[in-house]
Amino acid sequence: MPQYKIVIGEEELPRAWYNILPDLPEPLPPPLRPDGSPVKPQDLEAIFPKEIIRQEMSSERFIPIPNEVLEVYKLWRPTPLFRAHRLERALKTPAEIYYKYEGVSPPGSHKPNTAVAQAYFNMKEGVERLTTETGAGQWGSALAFATNFFGLNCTIYMVRVSYEQKPYRRVLMQLWGAEVVPSPSNKTSFGRKVLDQDLSNPGSLGIAISEAIEDAVTHERTKYSLGSVLNHVLLHQTIVGLEAYKQLETLDRFPDYVVGCIGGGSNFAGISYPFFYYKKVGKAPNEARFIAVEPTAAPSTTKGVYTYDHGDTARLTPLLKMYTLGHDFIPPPIHAGGLRYHGKAPTLCLLIKHNEFESIAYNQLEVFKAADLFAKAEGIVPAPESAHAIRAVVDLALEAKKTGEKKVILFNLSGHGLLDLKAFDEYLSGTLKPYEYPKEEVEKSIQRLYDLYPWLKTFS
Ligand SMILES: Cc1ncc(COP(=O)(O)O)c(C=O)c1O
Repeated sequence: MPQYKIVIGEEELPRAWYNILPDLPEPLPPPLRPDGSPVKPQDLEAIFPKEIIRQEMSSERFIPIPNEVLEVYKLWRPTPLFRAHRLERALKTPAEIYYKYEGVSPPGSHKPNTAVAQAYFNMKEGVERLTTETGAGQWGSALAFATNFFGLNCTIYMVRVSYEQKPYRRVLMQLWGAEVVPSPSNKTSFGRKVLDQDLSNPGSLGIAISEAIEDAVTHERTKYSLGSVLNHVLLHQTIVGLEAYKQLETLDRFPDYVVGCIGGGSNFAGISYPFFYYKKVGKAPNEARFIAVEPTAAPSTTKGVYTYDHGDTARLTPLLKMYTLGHDFIPPPIHAGGLRYHGKAPTLCLLIKHNEFESIAYNQLEVFKAADLFAKAEGIVPAPESAHAIRAVVDLALEAKKTGEKKVILFNLSGHGLLDLKAFDEYLSGTLKPYEYPKEEVEKSIQRLYDLYPWLKTFS
């Protein structure tokens, strides 16, 4: 009998997250203020609690997970690791395909791994309300779920087009007690400014981040919470890879490829950074490769520029060194809401820059074909974001078929797609179109960035 599901017990739940900062190929370029000077920890205190800031800058390799956080994690962790025997058979590949299934969390994705930790550390420091942004609603629902457990209020700025098109995620957030505001909104001065210029603005993640930060800094005992990109978020996600390592160890396997989709980079970092560490300390029997997958509609690492840029449209966040399409990027209406972001996590970008990690882009039609194949073979409907990883895995498995090599492929199935069926409906009815973001648009955006900060050219 083939083994489909590799489970480990609660007692094997990792007790510490892995911090990649001490293991990067060069020190991470620091976040900068608009005048080019480095951000100080105190600058971040208006938006984050002290413990989160400490984690953001920590050089400790392993950071303990508090018991209160572990207790909540136990609701769905350790998550199962599946061997995709049926997908392997459908592809007639000699490769072994494994996936870590994060869709079993109550909100349906990996996002609560950090939401629970962030809500806990804020609660410990007396914060009463968290603000955040959400695109498709996955992150917002994870934070609503987490704040509810720790008795915090939560205000979520949801990109207006998703607010209108994805009522079920909004309902989920409201059910867990959060206030959900369509962004751009009248609640913030930045939102009002955007609406003054264009009342029908559909919103973007960049705008929603600006609104959420403004709300946090202008209110007492209110802080801001981010669902991706920053070091502490990626840190919390490493529980995924740490568990997967233990699960694969029971089979005496180490992946040749670790694959994940990237919006801001957190689920991919979560599954891949621990394996990068084990490879570094000599535990990999092979030349493990790490492959990040993004949409051709938001191709930050494949068409973007590695430079300092803001994380939001209103330029409220510090400048982060990353691959960016420019902070004024207006995302095309594709069906992988969580991947429509202009930048990516600075640690991941540094690893790509140093060729330690690779990246690749696919259009949404190729991605949904892979999602269709996966749903039929494995039975699970993947989130459109996660389906990007599946597309790359299918190609790697077909490559292995050509060469006859018995490669071990691991990917993060970061969420289920049961609240994304409208996208699947469009795919099935044949109306879904491929889209490539033009390079010229990136160049124009980056030129505007350099006009704003002429000193940047010498940094890039
Ligand atoms: C299911 C799922 N996967 C992936 C992502 C992309 O985010 P990240 O790159 O931070 O994992 C999102 C973001 O919303 C998501 O909801």
